[in-house]
Amino acid sequence: MDKNDVLVLAQIRPAQMQMLEERYQLHRYDQASDAERTEMLARYGERIRAVLTTYDGGFEKELLDQLPNLEVVACSSVGFDSLCVNDCQARGIPVTNTPDVLTDDVADLGMLLLLATVRRLLPGTDWIRSGKWVGQGVMPLSTSLKGKTLGIVGLGRIGKAFARRAELSGMNICYYGRRQQADVSYPYYSDLEALARDVDVLAPVVPGGAETQGLISREVLSALGPNGYFINIARGSVVDEPALVELLQSGALAGAGLDVFADEPNVPQALIELDNVVLQPHLGSATVETRDAMAQLAVDNLAAHFEGRPLLTPVPI
Ligand code: 8YV
Repeated sequence: MDKNDVLVLAQIRPAQMQMLEERYQLHRYDQASDAERTEMLARYGERIRAVLTTYDGGFEKELLDQLPNLEVVACSSVGFDSLCVNDCQARGIPVTNTPDVLTDDVADLGMLLLLATVRRLLPGTDWIRSGKWVGQGVMPLSTSLKGKTLGIVGLGRIGKAFARRAELSGMNICYYGRRQQADVSYPYYSDLEALARDVDVLAPVVPGGAETQGLISREVLSALGPNGYFINIARGSVVDEPALVELLQSGALAGAGLDVFADEPNVPQALIELDNVVLQPHLGSATVETRDAMAQLAVDNLAAHFEGRPLLTPVPI
């Protein structure tokens, strides 16, 4: 029997790539030059029944338009803001993502950024490396998390896991979202600026995309104030990045811990030069265990589709 044709827009983990190779006829769009891509689509476009991608790999409508017999898209990321999900769903093509399996690792990274930023972990390392401990003695004191308040913008699965970790450090939690959640006892704010005004640390944990673009505006960041910290494990697009840089430079914000940026992998030079920020190259889910689990879920979704079973984790319509 002929193998089904799958267009690969991004590589996933080796063991899962191997499974895919055994089961399907893979077309490695991710490894092809522009000319090879054009030829690949001309020859095989009509045969492609599935697309495999990730947040980094994306999936644009222009490509969707060249795959007339596409049946399913499996994305090995929880976020699908780089994919044309609405266009796929409008054509009856389901898209799957990888929720849950990455929740703890992403929440850990949020907590790591929060602790490292507020307790000044990197300046501490630098204090030793630069010989200041010997030359100048003890470092200036930092700030305690205990008794401070973390405001989470978008209290979903990852937001809740982050909140639980922050509670263990003695923090109070409150949140902003489209609506109050009945089963959550943390104080709810329907006004984002009011939340920013009342908290010590503000952390968006919302999906990217048009709905959240620029949600953390200059006004929101200004409301956080000169003793306020900003932690971003969501998407660079949710914050006004130039305003963030300006406020950090002028001391209108105390510090920031950032895993995501507006134009990855390009990080503004001004951010790189600041010593009150901790920067990570989008590593929220970047552990062997979690990337394996994400890759397996994507493979399992494809298997479910081709075996006529319900998809495990379809993106809701
Ligand atoms: C990416 C992420 O999946 O899952 C998400 O939404 O942002 C990351 O885990 C990762 O960069 C691989 O594309």
